[in-house]
Amino acid sequence: MGAETRDRLYWEERAKLMGPHAGGYVDPVKYSYEEKVRRRLFQQMVHLWQGMKVLDVGAGVGNWCFWYEVSGCQVTGIDFSEEMVSLAQEQALERGSKVQFFRRAIEDWEGSQEEFDVITAITVLQHIIDEGCFERAVANMARLVKKGGHIVVCEAVGHEDRLEGKYLRIRPQERYHFYFGRQGCRLVEGKGVRYQAYLIYDLYMRLRRSIVSTLKKEAPPSLLPVTSERWKRMGGGNGRVGNLLLRLSGAVDRLIGHLPWVKKRFCKVTMMLFERTL
Ligand SMILES: C[S@@+](CC[C@H](N)C(=O)[O-])C[C@H]1O[C@@H](n2cnc3c(N)ncnc32)[C@H](O)[C@@H]1O
Repeated sequence: MGAETRDRLYWEERAKLMGPHAGGYVDPVKYSYEEKVRRRLFQQMVHLWQGMKVLDVGAGVGNWCFWYEVSGCQVTGIDFSEEMVSLAQEQALERGSKVQFFRRAIEDWEGSQEEFDVITAITVLQHIIDEGCFERAVANMARLVKKGGHIVVCEAVGHEDRLEGKYLRIRPQERYHFYFGRQGCRLVEGKGVRYQAYLIYDLYMRLRRSIVSTLKKEAPPSLLPVTSERWKRMGGGNGRVGNLLLRLSGAVDRLIGHLPWVKKRFCKVTMMLFERTL
């Protein structure tokens, strides 16, 4: 089985189990919190305009594509998972959206050159485990963006190259600078967040779920597949304390994010903006 196929099967399976939540987490509240943080970072870096041609790589169920479309952009979304593309197309139909979704692996896509004003990959390149595929993905993104156009990637970066589980490769940020630099793209800006304060939130949520199931004298329900019904049975959302902890996480992260031990030990979700200069 090739590297691309192995990675893809994981996403096909995930799309079947999680449906419209497949691009994010089992905990939809936590996902929407992270999305807000990512979108704020994105808005600080990129100005979207009417008619701008945007390509979203690894579009998943299309969340970011629909968001770009609201600003008047002409959007194309690609994803190598057939299931994800079907889910995105269903969403597009429901919303009356004009976003075009195609099934493509970015490393193998031979689309025409210099086509897009902006290309984005939001938590995608970190899931390309094979280094050769990663390099080809970067080269294709650089080829498809117009000269003077921008590439935005948002990925987990760390102190050193390491695998977390089977499908997340945390690379040093310099690796991104190096590969994009080699393709004629210079780094304009890079901003990141650590979500370490989540640990407290996650612990609290686990505790809350087990208390709820003990009180109900039931085994904790399986989280997958994700449906709003299951989510309710897991304890009825996050509750006031959960939501407060989530809100506090941002402030705590900013405080502890500067500690050398935290920097060394934990990865950082980083939004990098590159400009194609050559
Ligand atoms: C974590 S999800 C992110 C989805 C979306 N960008 C978002 O933020 O909601 C990663 C997505 O990237 C897709 N993907 C991973 N590797 C890819 C590749 N080499 N080419 C195209 N899509 C890929 C997966 O199928 C999955 O839908």
